[in-house]
Amino acid sequence: MYSVGIITLSDKGSEGIRKDMSGPKIKELLPKDKYEVVSYKLLPDDEQMLKSELTRLCDEVKCNLVLTTGGTGFSKRDITPEVTLSVAEKNAPGIAEGLRAYSMQFTKRAILSRGASVIRNRTLIINLPGSVKAVSESMEFLIGNIEHGLDILL
Ligand code: MTE
Repeated sequence: MYSVGIITLSDKGSEGIRKDMSGPKIKELLPKDKYEVVSYKLLPDDEQMLKSELTRLCDEVKCNLVLTTGGTGFSKRDITPEVTLSVAEKNAPGIAEGLRAYSMQFTKRAILSRGASVIRNRTLIINLPGSVKAVSESMEFLIGNIEHGLDILL
């Protein structure tokens, strides 16, 4: 079993203005026989809050995988990739590159996601875009392709 932490980054979600559908969608699309969601949090697009949650999930909870959704675009408050890179020990850019390449069949706006994929200790962190549609398309690409990497990190 791979343990998974999910973080949704959304100012509107965290204020209660919009219900987070993307975090629960990630959970729904993770195969139950291989992945166990051990943590789910909805946070505003706040650098310090994201940084402390990422380090908690990697260093204390020791998740095998952390999936974030949201905050990867061009808005002023979109800071998910920068915070993710700031906690990284190693970059693993192929996953983010593959995700964008795969997503091009659905929308050319896939180029607008700045999402990163990195390693911190034994945890793989992957940034997904924010919409439910983008999450569904991204999970389709990731499941089946990242497990070999997760096994090497064990
Ligand atoms: N990737 C996929 N697979 N499907 C999508 O619909 N939307 C794009 C892009 N990546 C999209 C996608 C759009 S329109 C934006 S603005 C960026 O993701 C950033 O999204 P975010 O700011 O919600 O993270």
